[in-house]
Order: sequence, then structure tokens, then C-alpha cells
Amino acid sequence: MTKLLFKSDLDRADLWASALLKHKPDLEIEVWPSGAPAPEGDPASIDYALVWKPPLGVLKSLPNLKAIFSLGAGIDHIFRDPELPEGVPVVRMVERGLTAGMTEYVVMQVLYHHRRMLDYRAQQRNRVWNELPFVASWDRRVGILGLGQLGSDAAAKLAGLGLDVAGWSRSPKDIPGVTSYSGAAGLEEFLARTEILVCLLPLTEETRGILGAETFAKLPKGASVINVGRGEHLVEADLLAALESGQVDSATLDVFAEEPLPESSPFWDHERVIVTPHVASITVPDTAAEAVAANIARIERGEAPANAVDRAKGY
Ligand code: NAP
Ligand code: GLV
Repeated sequence: MTKLLFKSDLDRADLWASALLKHKPDLEIEVWPSGAPAPEGDPASIDYALVWKPPLGVLKSLPNLKAIFSLGAGIDHIFRDPELPEGVPVVRMVERGLTAGMTEYVVMQVLYHHRRMLDYRAQQRNRVWNELPFVASWDRRVGILGLGQLGSDAAAKLAGLGLDVAGWSRSPKDIPGVTSYSGAAGLEEFLARTEILVCLLPLTEETRGILGAETFAKLPKGASVINVGRGEHLVEADLLAALESGQVDSATLDVFAEEPLPESSPFWDHERVIVTPHVASITVPDTAAEAVAANIARIERGEAPANAVDRAKGY
């Protein structure tokens, strides 16, 4: 019998259990009770952990763990644990529901800024009937920071809509219709041509604070910024200053350094900012369980799991 420990305070464990059993009927599932400091069963009986924000120091107490699966694409919630067991692979969530959801959200927000919907909403509030200048899609330059599982799909779909799309990643990419920039050397040129900037990077020591004053200053004046990576990518005070000066015209923020976003945050009622509560994309239990089951099968065959984090790169 293979035993999997499930830990999330956000998701319904019963939904996950039935999705996992559909794809791996012989799995034994132990649910880590919400709010409990540690799992209640025998730690030595756990083969796999499927987790979101596990409490610090607990994963190291599972001596027979073969892999740690993240319930989300991001793994910063796992790597914040200084006592994370060394030799155990940590696996990112890669599943088509998460990718489709993120592409939907990014396309929606890019089009919202491209078609000046914040301005039209403001006009509507004031009963103003006024046509604003129109920019053709092929003249609108969108730039995506991070061309991984999520960024590459969003970039390809935006290019399919006819927008002028570029992306920035550590290594060069070959995505039809998408101009690739890479490494520190490519960043400046990428930013200089980007009117709508989307952050889909993982949070690492290299990417923390990348959405800050230096980056905003390199964008064309009046650019829009969409952050769907992590809150710590953004320097909030720098964005507020850039909005104030008009260097950044508008923003969409889905993720924040402090979540839930505190009531006192100036973003809540900022006229030029759209706030959503970390919902750009949500892991879909059925397709995610299929991906986890396939990876367990790989490990049980003695193969390496797909989408394991490269600890040296940090993502
Ligand atoms: P991924 O497949 O690991 O892709 C990461 C991309 O970032 C890769 O293209 C990588 O370049 C690039 N990158 C990383 N560090 C870099 C650096 N220092 N310089 C330049 N490029 C760098 O990750 P993913 O699955 O697309 O997910 C991305 C992130 O989205 C997650 O980590 C998570 O934080 C966020 N997310 C948010 C939500 C939400 O609801 N808001 C939902 C899901 C995910 P290479 O390709 O060259 O390695
Ligand atoms: C959500 O933020 C994720 O990382 O999947």
C-alpha cells in the first residue's frame, strides 16, 4: 500500500481524496487535519506528501518520504522551511487546469488594459460618452517575465490574438510568434519595448523585488503591470510611486506579500489598480490528481519524477 499525506487548509480534502483514488485506487490517503501542528498518524508510514504551506520543520519528521508534491505551481511555500529534508525531490504542480486558468486570467487582464477598460469604467461612473484612442493589437507590445509552463502558454495564446508578444526567461525560448529575451543582458531591451508587463516568474532570491522602481523606469511611460507571480516580486511602495508619477498607468495585482491583503492597503481603493484575491489560477483536483498519480508511478518504477525542482536554481 502506498500512503500519501494531504495537507491544505484551502482545499476540500474529500474532493482531493476522490480525485486521487480515481487515478490511483490503491492509494491510502491521510489528511493532515486543518490547524493541527503535525499529521496525526505514524510518520514512518508516509510515502508521499501533497501539500500547500506545510508548517515549518514537519516534513523532516517523515523518515520514509519519497517525494513532496506541491499543490500549486509555486514551491516557495515549501522552500521557506529551513529544515526541508535534503534528498527528497520537491515536485511543482504542472497540470492543464492550472495552465488553462492562468492563460484565461492573463489574457483577460492584458485585454482589459489594452482596451482601456479602467478608463471606460471611470467614464461610465461619470456618465461620459467619449471614444478614447484605439491601438491595434499588432501595435500593442506585451511582455511576459517568465516563459515556463504558465508564461509560455499565456504568451502563445496572446500572440494568437495578434498582440506583439515578447517574453523573458533565464534561457532562450522558441515559441511561435513570441520574441525571446533572456538573462540579465536581455532584460533592459525587453522592458524598453513592453507596454503591458506580466510577471509569471517563480519567487527566488534572484526574482524577489523585480517589480520595483528600476524596472518601472525602464518601461515606456504609461505602461501597465500585471503581477500574477508572487507578492514578493513587487515593491509595493515603488508601484504606488510609479502610479502617482504616471510612469505606470495601471496595474492588476493578484498576489501580495501579505495575504489576505490588509484592509489598510492603499491598493483596495486605488482607481488605477485591479485587485483579485490570489485566484488567477487554481489547481483543478481531477487533472492534478492525474499528474500526481503519474508521477508516483514513475517513482515506483525507479524513474525520476517529472517537474522536480532544481534546488540549485531554486525553481
Ligand atoms: P516554471 O515552469 O518553473 O517557469 C518559470 C520561468 O521563469 C521559466 O521560464 C524560467 O526560465 C524563468 N525564470 C526563473 N528565474 C529566472 C531568472 N532569474 N531570470 C529569468 N528568468 C527566470 O513556473 P510556472 O509553472 O510557469 O509558474 C510560475 C509562477 O507562477 C509560480 O512559481 C507561481 O509563483 C506563480 N503562480 C501564481 C498563481 C496565481 O494564482 N497567482 C498560480 C500559479 C502559479 P527558464 O525557462 O529559462 O528556466
Ligand atoms: C498558486 O499560487 C500556485 O502556485 O499554484
